[in-house]
This record gives sequence, C-alpha cells and structure tokens, in this order.
Amino acid sequence: MNIGLIGSGGREHALCKKISESRLVKKIFCFPGNAGTSELATNVAVNILAFKDVLKLIKFHKIDLVIVGPEEPLVLGLVNLLKKNKVKVFGPNKYAAKLEGSKAFMKKICAQNNVPTANFKICNKLHQVKKFLQISILPLVVKADGLAAGKGVTICKSKKQVIKTASEIFKGKFKSSRKVILEEFLEGEEASYFIIVDNNSFKFFGTAQDHKRVYENDKGPNTGGMGAYSPAPIVTKKLEKKIISKIITPTLKALKRKKNPYSGFLYVGLMIKNNEPFLIEYNVRMGDPECQVILPRLKTDIVKIFKNAASNNLRKTKISWKKQKSMTIVLCAKGYPKKYKKNLRINNIKKVKLSNTDFIFHAGTKYFNKEIRSNGGRILNISSTGDSFNNIRKKIILNIKKLNIKHSFYRKDIGWKVIDKNENY
Ligand code: AMP
Ligand code: GLY
Repeated sequence: MNIGLIGSGGREHALCKKISESRLVKKIFCFPGNAGTSELATNVAVNILAFKDVLKLIKFHKIDLVIVGPEEPLVLGLVNLLKKNKVKVFGPNKYAAKLEGSKAFMKKICAQNNVPTANFKICNKLHQVKKFLQISILPLVVKADGLAAGKGVTICKSKKQVIKTASEIFKGKFKSSRKVILEEFLEGEEASYFIIVDNNSFKFFGTAQDHKRVYENDKGPNTGGMGAYSPAPIVTKKLEKKIISKIITPTLKALKRKKNPYSGFLYVGLMIKNNEPFLIEYNVRMGDPECQVILPRLKTDIVKIFKNAASNNLRKTKISWKKQKSMTIVLCAKGYPKKYKKNLRINNIKKVKLSNTDFIFHAGTKYFNKEIRSNGGRILNISSTGDSFNNIRKKIILNIKKLNIKHSFYRKDIGWKVIDKNENY
C-alpha cells in the first residue's frame, strides 16, 4: 500500500516511523513532513489546508490510505472531501471533529449525556459573563470556543481577568470562534487516555501524561507539551472502567445518534479527582508529544490497524503493547513559547549513536542546503523506552547532552510525579 501522512511535527515523525516498519507498506508520502520524515518517506511540499491541492497530490501519488495527524484539517473537513472523492482515509469527519473544534459543542454533548465534566456556561455576550460571575467562585477557567493553537485557555484568579479575557475572545482574538466558555476550575491530576475508533467499535490506544508548562516544577506559561511518559500509572483498571462507561461510551453513542459516528483517534483529556474521571477536553487526533511515547510501545502493525479501522473492521483487530515504559523530552529553542530563534544548526544529530531503544523524533526541523536546521519552537523529541522511568530519563538526558544544540533548552524533571515518589518506578 501507499500511505499518505498529513502533518509535519514530532507526532507525524513517530507515525511515519511506525508506518515504515509495516510489511504492508510500499511507499510513504508526508504532506509536508519534516527533516526526520524525509529519511523514511517522500516529503511532498504543500499547504495542508489547501484541500484541493492535497487531493490532487494524493491522486497523483496513487495513495491507498491517508492518515491525518493534526486537528486543523480534520476540523475544516479534509476527511469529508477525501471520502467524497473516493480516497480511503482514517480520521473523523467535520461534524465529529467538532468534539475538538468547538468546546461549546463538546460541552453540550457532555450535558445532554451526563458525562462528568467541569460545570460551565456558554456565553455569546459580555453581559452573560458578568451575570455568571455573580454566582461563580474563583478561579474560573475562560476558554475560547474554537481552535486556538493551545492558547485558548486562561485560568483566571480575579473577576477583572475573567472580563478582560472574555472581552478579547468576543473581539475576535481567535479567528475560529467568538464564543466564550466559562468553566469551574477542577483540581486533581491530569491524564490522557487514547482510543482508536471506527463505526462499529473502539480499542484502547494507550495512556500518557504530558507536561504542559514550560519550566521545571510546572511553572511558567502553557506550551504544546514539554515532555511525556507512558503508561500513566494513575489510570488504574478501575478508573479505566469509569472512563469508558461514564465518558467514552455515552459520547460515541451520542455521535451515532446524530448520524455522524466517530472514527479516528480520540484523545480523552482528563482530570482525576478522588479516583473519579472528569473530562477536560477531547482532541480528535493523537497527542503531541503523547504519540511519541505511545507508539514505541505498540507491538501490532500500525498499518494493519489503520486499514481495518478505515474499513470498520477494528473489532476483529487485536492490538498488543510492550510492557516497557516510554518517555520523551522536548528540546526547544530558547525563548519558546514566546519569541525564539529559528534556523539553529542541529547537525550533531547524525553523530549521536543511539541504541535500539532510543529514538530522536524531529518536531520543528527542515533541511537547508543539506544541513538540518530548526524550523519551530519545539525542535526535537528525544525518546527512549526501558524498565524504569528514572533510568529512561537518565538515558534521554545523556543523549540531549551529546546533541549539544546551542540556544536550546529542555525540562529535566519530566516524569517527576512518577519518579520522585518512587525512585525505581
Ligand atoms: P484544554 O485546552 O481544554 O485542554 O486546556 C488546557 C489546560 O488547561 C488543561 O490541560 C488543564 O491543565 C487546564 N484546564 C482546562 N480546563 C480546566 C478546568 N476546568 N479546571 C482546571 N484546569 C483546566
Ligand atoms: N499534548 C497536548 C496535545 O496534543 O494537545
């Protein structure tokens, strides 16, 4: 089969590597990919939101199955266009992708189906915000309704901040939507639970914990993710049952009733409080960098899984996982998530000798005159698997030191929740 992979981050490099290990694959085409994917696949330069161009290139390269990595093309309806043109594709359609594309849509589904989530109010006008403020306690979480590239959530400690944040959203700070969601602040521990879904069934696809804040000890502004590990020990069998029965099953049933059954990866972002799961968010894709820690643990041929899911045969597909644990640390350009330098030289990458349990996924990289250069704030995901998170982290940090990339930084405390509690976990 020829596989088309849409996207250009660390998640897509991890997907590309796993796809390249499949016996079912002839060629892989990445739209547009990065320097890392170009070693495993053919990168095809295209704006992935120019759907007609993407379709033409998919037809030209005779692609049998398309995998969509990021949320934006999913939310804007790439799957609908490809299916209409008889292209086999794995991912949710435009309606189902609203689970991520519209927080108001997601919250309404929760309310109508008793899915445990933070109490909320959807507001279209500032006077609604002011009225709700009279009966709510602080802190209050203010969210933009539509996609906001990870910048749409503010935890507000004062009423003044709530009004300022909401006003900015109403004025169009995020082009995707002008609605505001006000949410109760949930305390607890976050975890991400993943499933793969087709029209008939769904299967477990791993757990992970991300580290969203830029600095050690979870300080500083939110980022796209500074590192992750898998599995997430907080997700016990007992908790998993609750996640499935209280959150996942009612949501998938609701979309079926709305005649738009979900298919694709589903990322269930959770807050765990007193062993009870609360839904914080749905993402209609794999997480980044969670994908980079989950895929190295997958034993089953991923293309077989995609192929079966795309033809609604997931039920008969056995998905097996390795026992080993996995971690990734994100190497960023200094200044990220604010202003940072691009074009940093990262050629050392070719000199670092890696064992077969180590891997470096490219996130923001490109080739420039045969040299690998940085092309984004999150540059590389240095990953490894093993038996203890503590030892894995030591191995990763050693590899980062060998890379010795100037003007870069990383968090040295990824996994602190599981490592510092128990040295040998
Ligand atoms: P989201 O984009 O909805 O995942 O929000 C980004 C981050 O904000 C989450 O990963 C949480 O750390 C935090 N967050 C979002 N909603 C809440 C909430 N209701 N209570 C506490 N923290 C939240
Ligand atoms: N790591 C968070 C996300 O992919 O949304």
